[in-house]
Amino acid sequence: MHLLALSGSLRADSTNTALLRAAGELAPADASFMLYTDIAALPAFNPDYDTQPAHAAVARFRAALQSADGVLIASPEYAHGVPGALKNALDWVVASGELVDKPVALLHSSPRGQFVRAALTEILLTMSARLIDDATLTVPLLGRTTDEITTLLAKPDTRTTLRSVLQCFADAISAPPKPDFGSEHRNPVKSPPIKPD
Ligand SMILES: Cc1cc2nc3c(=O)[nH]c(=O)nc-3n(C[C@H](O)[C@H](O)[C@H](O)COP(=O)(O)O)c2cc1C
Repeated sequence: MHLLALSGSLRADSTNTALLRAAGELAPADASFMLYTDIAALPAFNPDYDTQPAHAAVARFRAALQSADGVLIASPEYAHGVPGALKNALDWVVASGELVDKPVALLHSSPRGQFVRAALTEILLTMSARLIDDATLTVPLLGRTTDEITTLLAKPDTRTTLRSVLQCFADAISAPPKPDFGSEHRNPVKSPPIKPD
């Protein structure tokens, strides 16, 4: 099984990216994991430029999604919405369909950001992705120092919770989708957030 991770933050010290990196270390033993770090290379989406052959960065992004059995997304909220780079990346695969029926897990590095959670849920469901509610997790990293983030991500409790969310995601990927698919995925915030010390 191959998992692909997308961070909505381009910051070098992004808490969302840190969370995805930690997830990569704790993915099930039989799963490979790749953090896709190149969404900033995608041109601004324009349907007029969605031609064949595709722009190299677009082709790379689509191929990465195609090869993934499941996609993990962690994103900050910008102005009550999805950061432009991530929304742009998602727009490039609306018509080409790489996310159709693709299992997606949403991770969050902050308990804030209800708007981005709702927006990502709406966007991904519109794109016919398969959002896996039980593979949603919040780890409150925002506002912490780099050392505090490292410590929190190394805590046995955090690692156990993250591991079990990833296992749950892997199980959902392996299981066939449930027939009542639409209504099941309307509540993206199911797993309780990990409590700070
Ligand atoms: C331009 C900008 C807009 C933001 N807007 C919001 C917002 O609307 N709501 C919110 O909760 N946080 C907002 N924030 C705070 C970010 O969500 C927060 O810094 C984020 O967790 C950073 O994630 P990262 O560490 O992965 O980069 C904003 C930050 C920036 C830079």
